[in-house]
Amino acid sequence: MKVIVCENYEEESKKAFEVMKDVIQKNPHAILGLATGSSPEGLYKEMVKDYQENGTSYADITSYNLDEYVGIDRNHPESYYSFMHKHLFDHVNIKPENTHLPEGSTQADADAYEAELKKVTIDLQLLGIGRNGHIGFNEPGTSFDAPTHIVDLTQSTLEANSRFFDNDVNKVPHQAMSMGLGSIMRSKKILLVANGANKADAVKAMVEGPVTEKVPASILQKHPDVVVVLDKAAASKLSK
Ligand code: F6R
Repeated sequence: MKVIVCENYEEESKKAFEVMKDVIQKNPHAILGLATGSSPEGLYKEMVKDYQENGTSYADITSYNLDEYVGIDRNHPESYYSFMHKHLFDHVNIKPENTHLPEGSTQADADAYEAELKKVTIDLQLLGIGRNGHIGFNEPGTSFDAPTHIVDLTQSTLEANSRFFDNDVNKVPHQAMSMGLGSIMRSKKILLVANGANKADAVKAMVEGPVTEKVPASILQKHPDVVVVLDKAAASKLSK
């Protein structure tokens, strides 16, 4: 794991963008695994700015998102479908038919997404990390070789995400469809971004803790090409 510690969130987002841009420049047909949430918003801003200023083309880029809530209308402002359109897809020239997000509520729907994923190799998988060490919505206890599956979100995740739903935990969908840890680990390269002191424990457990299903992100220690980009606060509990 390569860990890069930045002064602040802005610098972190720029650093993460360098990693992303390198992959896209080397391979204009790259397949990207994308994440939602607050952590990658700065990176998406950099991608949009670069597209507007330098014309970096997404015409031949394909994307697969990590996860989506179950039972949420795609057009709901807090669906991950809406998030991706708002922060990236609507501002670059990626073709709508080349973007993929999990959809549906059954394990059969999840199996269909996994079958799509198995036909490709993701060149760069972008991740955030939950305060409880989740990646995607692979909550603590998820098997390391899980494929795409339907997840019951933990109380910690429901509370963390209630900030997007009027701070009302009851409005947060209680289930999601998520790529599994097995699906994530097949990616060629992984870029994880995290910021803020409330991620420091999860970051420490991911980077320095034992590889255990209690900390889903700890499996990344076994991946050959992971870049972790942090701000100082998220890195504050690392020993070096
Ligand atoms: C989002 C995702 C989640 C988030 C994580 C951190 O697609 O899969 O694992 O990356 O919950 O969320 P933020 O960035 O909002 O703190």
